[in-house]
Amino acid sequence: MGLFDRFKRRKARDAAPPPAPVQPWPPPPVAPMPAYQNFEIPPEPDQPAWMKYPVSAPKGHIIVFANEKGGVGKSTSAFHTCIALCNAGERVAALDVDLRQLTLHRALWARQESEREYGVKLPGPEQIMLAQQNENELAEKLRMARIHNSFIVIDVGGHDSPIARKAIFMADTIVTPVNDSFIDLDMLGHIDPRTGDFKTLGNFARLVEHLKDPGIALRSTPLDWVVMQNRSRSLATNNERKVRDALDKIAPAAGFRIVPGLSERVTYRELFPLGLTLFDLDTLPDLGKAQPNAREEIWAMLRALNLPSAALKRAIAPPTDDGSDFA
Ligand SMILES: Nc1ncnc2c1ncn2[C@@H]1O[C@H](COP(=O)(O)OP(=O)(O)OP(=O)(O)O)[C@@H](O)[C@H]1O
Ligand SMILES: [Mg+2]
Repeated sequence: MGLFDRFKRRKARDAAPPPAPVQPWPPPPVAPMPAYQNFEIPPEPDQPAWMKYPVSAPKGHIIVFANEKGGVGKSTSAFHTCIALCNAGERVAALDVDLRQLTLHRALWARQESEREYGVKLPGPEQIMLAQQNENELAEKLRMARIHNSFIVIDVGGHDSPIARKAIFMADTIVTPVNDSFIDLDMLGHIDPRTGDFKTLGNFARLVEHLKDPGIALRSTPLDWVVMQNRSRSLATNNERKVRDALDKIAPAAGFRIVPGLSERVTYRELFPLGLTLFDLDTLPDLGKAQPNAREEIWAMLRALNLPSAALKRAIAPPTDDGSDFA
């Protein structure tokens, strides 16, 4: 074979593959459903039939734990929400947008380590990792995650950032934990310390106000913003009552509702680094006994979130008279 033939063969081999055949658009009409299935919609003459049968992808509900105040219990509440939802039999994805802390993912990795260590299988969410702290990547990963999960739990760092804004923009439910301190309320609203009157909205409340209307097109229901009282004590202190009064005054202007969260418990702090919750102590009885009130408190937190799932509502029904967790 001559040099020229060899050159021609190499050129043919290296040539770009032929372009993929172009798919017809719009796709050919879908054959109408047989009448006996009783959900046939008569096609209108000017619209192709395939537009009448949209593929109904399951649409995961996005719960974003966010507050520009740090250290208020976002990650702790997000983690417990994730695991409680999994215990209720829901398909859950977890995503941490604070790539420097990754608290939620670290807890979930610790959970996997605990599973290996103790040789057990524990219910847990799908973990979705971002390669970079980038809003477009977040939107794309959420789009995919929503197809096959009923809930997506997002933990947002305690500061403003473009990715935090994107998560809030896409949220169906925003959960903002606060502790019983006036400093924690500052990002939500300002109260006159002398008269106790409401003065203005805080920066975080303004941000939610700014983002909730443009995001409405993405949501099937209006945004539900809940402020969750975290680390409450069984006997409400005077300060706790004052903080609650202040929250009541800010709520109508900011557009949130106030719900009970987790109370102050050492167990939450002790189990978190192992990636475990009180629910797991049934599977791992050697680690301790779950206090029924504490477990009920986690269910109560979920009930207060009022999430859209009949299965979840059944699983988290209030305890029956015999004291068992499930109705
Ligand atoms: N209900 C609770 N009972 C006891 N300790 C709690 C409770 N909730 C949170 N904590 C503790 O409070 C601290 C802050 O909690 P966490 O890390 O969840 O807050 P965060 O809002 O996610 O913080 P950041 O803004 O840094 O992300 C942690 O030490 C955690 O163990
Ligand atoms: Mg955190």
